[in-house]
Amino acid sequence: MVRMAQERSNPFGRVKISSNGSLHSIRREKETIAGVIGLWFALAVQLATSETTYDVLAFKAVGDGETNDTQAFLKTWEAACADPRYSTFLVPAGRTFLLSRILFYGPCKSGIHFQLSGNIVAPNSIWTTETTNLVAFFGVNSLTVDGGGQIDGRGAIWWECVKNILQFLGCNDLTVKGIHLTNGPSKHMTFYHCIRVHVSGVTVTAPGNSPNTDGFLVSASQYVEITACSIGTGDDCIAIGPGSSKVNISRITCGPGHGISVGSLGKDGSTALVEQIFVSDCNIFQALTGTRIKTWQGGKGYARNIVFQHINMTSVQIPIDIDQFYCPQAAGCRSRADAVEISDVQFVDIHGTSSSEVAIDIQCSHSVPCRGITLNDITLKQDGKKAPATSNITNAYGTTIGTVIPPVHFA
Ligand SMILES: *[C@@H]1O[C@H](CO)[C@@H](O)[C@H](O)[C@H]1NC(C)=O
Ligand SMILES: *[C@@H]1O[C@H](CO)[C@@H](O)[C@H](O)[C@H]1NC(C)=O
Ligand SMILES: *[C@@H]1O[C@H](CO)[C@@H](O)[C@H](O)[C@H]1NC(C)=O
Ligand SMILES: *[C@@H]1O[C@H](CO)[C@@H](O)[C@H](O)[C@H]1NC(C)=O
Repeated sequence: MVRMAQERSNPFGRVKISSNGSLHSIRREKETIAGVIGLWFALAVQLATSETTYDVLAFKAVGDGETNDTQAFLKTWEAACADPRYSTFLVPAGRTFLLSRILFYGPCKSGIHFQLSGNIVAPNSIWTTETTNLVAFFGVNSLTVDGGGQIDGRGAIWWECVKNILQFLGCNDLTVKGIHLTNGPSKHMTFYHCIRVHVSGVTVTAPGNSPNTDGFLVSASQYVEITACSIGTGDDCIAIGPGSSKVNISRITCGPGHGISVGSLGKDGSTALVEQIFVSDCNIFQALTGTRIKTWQGGKGYARNIVFQHINMTSVQIPIDIDQFYCPQAAGCRSRADAVEISDVQFVDIHGTSSSEVAIDIQCSHSVPCRGITLNDITLKQDGKKAPATSNITNAYGTTIGTVIPPVHFA
């Protein structure tokens, strides 16, 4: 039998205000007709709106860190997802659940609260040769993931075969807060085709030398807010991919890693449309790049209306970087005329130190130069060296406002 815990303390909690309001007004009407009916109706409302908890232990999950609990989690999901009331999928505290490639499908009958109080680990062996995700949510709307638990990708073993430890695909009205992600084999948390996403208080840790271990990747998503997160990985702390707009990133601690990047865009001649990206109040340290826009040669589309402001850099190799010749595999990138057009990019109030000489590196293509670049109130000094930092600007048009150190000369 299925064990369910009903939370009756606040029957109107977590129910949408519109349905709440209408139910409430009907109830009052009934009460004026007959007290008994009113009482009965109040009870019905309470039953209809109470939150149900589906605990994975009730579905035979073991949580000893060794037993494969994938099947139990899927059964729990099936029940929670079919519940027409707002329900909680509970991963209880004090236990560690071993999962391998689990896909939680939507749409569900109602919103779901995925309460990760305990921990999830990947198998401690090479368990697949496929490229896959550890935990993925697909087409689940009104989902909240929280609870303070951790997902450990045990990445080192399978850096080669797994993509993400936590993926959201086509999830609208998504909230992720207060969870920990560690040792991702590749990317830690990715959002594809999601609208209205709120991420806060998430921490990510992975070895600084782990390959391609992005913290978060936002792709083809709109109205995304990421705030108060701490990320230390071997690649971008946060990467914003093609098709993303209206992304607001603030209060991020990033390091080690590759900073906060828009891109890479335009790979293999593809079209990328990225705009309205706002990054503010971040601490970036011991990183390869700090604030960056990277595009491949041969791409199409645009990256525009991008602001990086109030950023504190400590020992960052290239704190300000625009690269229209992005080519990570040293060899193999042909010279091509097309480029993702970069325009209206502001760097405002960026202070701190660079660990290399060139602190501001803006390399744009001859055929599609960068336009509308603003550098406003920038002071970047070379870390522990007497020699000042320098800038290197190619094919970029823009303006400087206030103090800009190192000095910059636009085309
Ligand atoms: C765990 O169980 C799932 C579902 O039964 C299965 O697909 C997967 O291969 C199992 N994983 C391991 C590591 O045995
Ligand atoms: C971005 O988020 C911050 C912090 O939540 C907020 O203060 C700011 O107004 C937002 N900016 C935009 C452009 O939405
Ligand atoms: C900038 O970062 C450094 C090193 O992390 C820190 O000591 C300093 O307090 C930070 N400054 C601000 C204004 O946050
Ligand atoms: C500046 O960039 C150009 C490429 O546009 C490169 O050839 C040159 O070496 C760079 N200068 C420094 C000091 O890095």
